[in-house]
Amino acid sequence: STIYLSDYEVPAYLIDTTDLAFDLGEESTKVTSQLHIRRNPASKTSNAPLALHGTELDLISLAIDGRTLDATEWTQSGEQLIIADVPTEFVLRCETLIRPQDNTSLEGLYKSSGMFCTQCEAEGFRKITYYLDRPDVMSVFTVEIIADAQRYPVLLSNGNLSATETLADGRHKTVWQDPFPKPAYLFALVAGKLACVEDRFTTMNGREVALKIYVENKDADKCDHAMASLKNAMRWDEDVYGREYDLDIFNIVAVDDFNMGAMENKSLNIFNTSCVLAKPETTTDAGFQRVEGVVAHEYFHNWSGNRVTCRDWFQLSLKEGFTVFRDAEFSADMGSPTVKRVEDVTLLRTAQFAEDAGPMAHPIRPDSFIEISNFYTVTVYEKGAEVVRMIHTLLGPELFRKGSDLYFDRHDGQAVTCEDFVLAMEDASGVDLGQFRHWYSQAGTPKLAVSAQYDADEQHYTLTVKQSCPATPGQTSKAPFHIPLAVALLGEAGQLALQLQDGEPNTETADNTEMVLSVTEPEQSFTFTGIHEEPVPSLLRGFSAPVKLDFAYSREQLLCLMRSDSDGFCRWDASQQLGLAEINQALADLAAGREVAPDSAYLDACRDLLADETLDGAMVAMMLQLPSEAYLAEIFHPVDVIALHRAREALRLAIAIALQAELQACYERCSSDAAYAADAAQIAQRSLKNTALAYLMLVDDDSARNLAISQFENSENMTDRLAALNSLVNSAAPYKADALQRFYQNWQHEPLVINQWFQVQAMCRLPGSIDRVQALMAHPAFDIRNPNKVRALIGAFCGQNSVNFHREDGAGYRFLADQVIVLNRSNPQIASRLLVPLTKWRKYLPAAQQLMCAELKRILAQPDLSSDVYEVVSKSLQDY
Ligand code: ARG
Ligand code: ZN
Repeated sequence: STIYLSDYEVPAYLIDTTDLAFDLGEESTKVTSQLHIRRNPASKTSNAPLALHGTELDLISLAIDGRTLDATEWTQSGEQLIIADVPTEFVLRCETLIRPQDNTSLEGLYKSSGMFCTQCEAEGFRKITYYLDRPDVMSVFTVEIIADAQRYPVLLSNGNLSATETLADGRHKTVWQDPFPKPAYLFALVAGKLACVEDRFTTMNGREVALKIYVENKDADKCDHAMASLKNAMRWDEDVYGREYDLDIFNIVAVDDFNMGAMENKSLNIFNTSCVLAKPETTTDAGFQRVEGVVAHEYFHNWSGNRVTCRDWFQLSLKEGFTVFRDAEFSADMGSPTVKRVEDVTLLRTAQFAEDAGPMAHPIRPDSFIEISNFYTVTVYEKGAEVVRMIHTLLGPELFRKGSDLYFDRHDGQAVTCEDFVLAMEDASGVDLGQFRHWYSQAGTPKLAVSAQYDADEQHYTLTVKQSCPATPGQTSKAPFHIPLAVALLGEAGQLALQLQDGEPNTETADNTEMVLSVTEPEQSFTFTGIHEEPVPSLLRGFSAPVKLDFAYSREQLLCLMRSDSDGFCRWDASQQLGLAEINQALADLAAGREVAPDSAYLDACRDLLADETLDGAMVAMMLQLPSEAYLAEIFHPVDVIALHRAREALRLAIAIALQAELQACYERCSSDAAYAADAAQIAQRSLKNTALAYLMLVDDDSARNLAISQFENSENMTDRLAALNSLVNSAAPYKADALQRFYQNWQHEPLVINQWFQVQAMCRLPGSIDRVQALMAHPAFDIRNPNKVRALIGAFCGQNSVNFHREDGAGYRFLADQVIVLNRSNPQIASRLLVPLTKWRKYLPAAQQLMCAELKRILAQPDLSSDVYEVVSKSLQDY
């Protein structure tokens, strides 16, 4: 059944204190709760029954103020336990039994590699005990944990450790108290045999904080990077947001089986091992960066999420959009800002734009949902972060900081809404965000069509901007958005000074050459005065708004932007637009039976990039890569996957042949035997080197193969080794079977490395990948109950190997549906995520559409569909 934002009501009851006692056992776990409950004075419904959430619980007893209730005094319906008659204030005592060892959904309390752990966001707490499992019910928690001392020497929960006790029968007990009131979704418990890596941090006001990372013994040597990232994040939040940590202890625990990346439980963050563990021999550069970003993200939630939390789950972007924006700015400050920006924009323009154009499109603050787990989306997270970034752009850094200070100050200890956030920004800055609020309520990616006119006599340059937004499910027409459009004008000698006719002189940038235009009308013109020559417009600088921009650039203009724009994002984007033009040409050439021949000016530009040692290598690497197939799928309608793949590959080969000498020189220049560091300079160098290697391997001659083989055998870091393996797997080199086997043998004891091994094979572009993937499903190292393995093999094949997933006989679609049907029973959250590639069926050619739809209907016809899978399948088959 559908839940609507417009139905929100304050809770009828509040829970002031929550005392939990866990008796953890191998057969079953007993949970005893004592809740101090009182009627909510703000609730309009008097005499409301007490309706508690609970699911898959075995109820043993219920008592009110010490009197045990008999079975006639409560009823159960669906997920609710209803007690009709309760006093205005009372203590409810409740005993339940649960079986964490059988919990494969990885929600609530479950076991992973012999350890007990929890995941309660969004609605997992109701799988632990009966409760008011909603974020606007905040309570002070005390948690007692009893378990076998040998098997579970470490017992953790939120807040401060207040007591430990050794019990008679080989068991022990700890008691934890969290002084900060919190919603149930931030509760956490961990019990296991864990190694602990310790450090400390002194806050800006001198508080000494013990930092502890708990991992399995064998992983204790992989925590340094997470620890350094944590300390950097703690300092950064003080420096940039004035936010200080508020307890004497901060714990991180790594678990193998985890549905998402990590979880910000108060003072006890629980992480997927893939987002904590890192060392050069086992972890790629991308892995190091992910650890840094996720550690920071969860830490930043302590303020943006925990101290100030969400009123209801429709407000999820309040904490997630803001926190993603915060972690992105942090990562930019720690590494290369332009590279980070390009990576984030790439994710947005592929996955998020696709979501916004598909059957599950929703605003960053959705109006309704069937299953909230389905709304932990790129829209809520990444587009949500773009919306906060736009506020930052419109206010400027100082006023934005005033706004965030006011927000944290005003709402500390409260559960609030996106509106409260915008209002704080408005109140602190005086900037009117009235029209801007449409970004919260309207789905779909706006399109900006820009045209330009130069008047040489008047020395006027006019940009005309038209905005529109396509219909999305439930929203046919859209009000115009307030879009910050950052622009500069490039002249012969550099950027021109900007002065708007009838406008205020621009005060934002020191040198007056960049300006943020406020686009608010369906159609609007901006005239710049004193423009002495016809400029090349640099538009949407830094990707200042999550929109699709359309401007009819000539090839010369794009080459100019690619060579000389001072905005790194626009430079890169110009390279992508040039690449797109080449792909279009290659499609036409192949269709006409001609050979693919890249444009010589484009090749010259690539040659210049390869030779220019002053440029950031990571930028060069990104600019040399053609637009991805995922990006092309957002541009072409309908998407002919196989034709696009062939054209893109033919073009890549032609580029590799034309630039072979330059690529070789670049590869050699970037090879180094410096000791590994995950710093921006080295990451840049490796990414350029491996981009060159991937091109060279397309030619697939002996010299390229020897480079790859030697890199595979001799490199001491996983970035280079995996890049070499990837090139080999996608080549015809006879050595590749050997390489795969040796890699497996060397790393079979490292699950995270074996995930990479699965993924490289799942993403192999060559024909026959599906057979390989199916065979690997039976490999002893594969485990369908482990989400990381599922993502590495099934997720990567269906989501990142278009040409094989979209095989014309539909085998890829059938395979995915089969796996979704299996996972629907064991882990509905993972099943519904995996399903996403099928939901995009409307984009493809008619034959593919039919095959994809048939698989969706087959899933829908299954008995016992979870709400997670049901929502995604039924919505994707609906007309809109
Ligand atoms: N709040 C977590 C984060 O942003 C994600 C938790 C997601 N949980 C879920 N059941 N979908 O890091
Ligand atoms: Zn988050």
